[in-house]
Amino acid sequence: MPLVSMRQLLDEAAKGGYGVGAFNVNDMEQIQAIMIAAKQTKSPVIVQASRGARAFAEDLYLFRLIEAAAELNPDIPIAMHQDHGNGFETCKSAIALGYTSVMMDGSLKEDGKTPSSFEENVEVTRRVVDYAHERGVTVEGEIGVLGGVEDGHGAGGSGLDHITDPDQAVEFAERTGVDALAIAIGTSHGAYKFNKKPDGSVLKMDVLIKIHKMLPKTHLVMHGSSSVPKDLQDIVNQYGGKLNPTWGVPVEEIQLGIRNGVRKINVDTDNRLAITGAIRKVFAEHPEKFDPRDYMKPAREAMAKVVAQRMTEFGQAGHAGDYKPIAIEEIAKGYASGALDPRPSLAGAR
Ligand code: 13P
Repeated sequence: MPLVSMRQLLDEAAKGGYGVGAFNVNDMEQIQAIMIAAKQTKSPVIVQASRGARAFAEDLYLFRLIEAAAELNPDIPIAMHQDHGNGFETCKSAIALGYTSVMMDGSLKEDGKTPSSFEENVEVTRRVVDYAHERGVTVEGEIGVLGGVEDGHGAGGSGLDHITDPDQAVEFAERTGVDALAIAIGTSHGAYKFNKKPDGSVLKMDVLIKIHKMLPKTHLVMHGSSSVPKDLQDIVNQYGGKLNPTWGVPVEEIQLGIRNGVRKINVDTDNRLAITGAIRKVFAEHPEKFDPRDYMKPAREAMAKVVAQRMTEFGQAGHAGDYKPIAIEEIAKGYASGALDPRPSLAGAR
């Protein structure tokens, strides 16, 4: 089936009370790993590419691979999403390629590093929403700033530096009309999020729950949501890696989020760890091997296993066939008529 609207995936997830994993990709094997897992668990899925991924793989290679995934898996709804767009032009170029969803991360300036003002964020996000909705494309915005840096994008520092202000989240959702809202609750991109199992002093689930109460119809997004499980860290270290002990976001906290309006969960680091561990194992145990397939196949399988596990834990498993995807052109008409207008003040009217 053609790529579907992320808005439709998230609306269906809200109806079903589950979350949808958004998995980052850079190459063919990662896309295949996601599709193996989606097919096995019968899950709708969000595939996402950062600016770094688009540059690494070259836009057209990556996009054609996603199109192949959609063609080969007609029973799986797939949304293709630009992760952390840093400006209008980045989002526009993703839409021109055929991405069905974009994130305009206006929480940072266009350099992808410096926190922006609230007004700057509203202005650029609103501009992207106008452009994207006219074309049936979903928009995710961000309010508050995530910790860490991923693919050169991020303010760095701790996840606690710019926690989302719930009142600002409401004003932002209303003034921009975003379909999904990423909030900062103490998580960071990358492997090093917490130095012990996180509790409420560092992972602000209370803020998330408060925002959900104030914005019950807005689809919330959790970034930096790898769980960084010890077994994946151990495989990397057992075969020559040097990861320092670290903790991610426990799956039970994500599930608490899902019960409180989280519909999209971003996962990249766990898959990177699974791939690296599998490759290191082959290199360590079979130093005589040099055919890339000998290590890319186990790497792909290791990632598929993690993705399938997350799909089951997030609740999206089994939901691929629940609904009929709506054509992007029809979604555009829904935005134009106001039927899909996501502004919170209109939520009662929907
Ligand atoms: P992780 O680094 O926790 O996997 O987060 C990925 C992410 O949020 C991509 O936007």
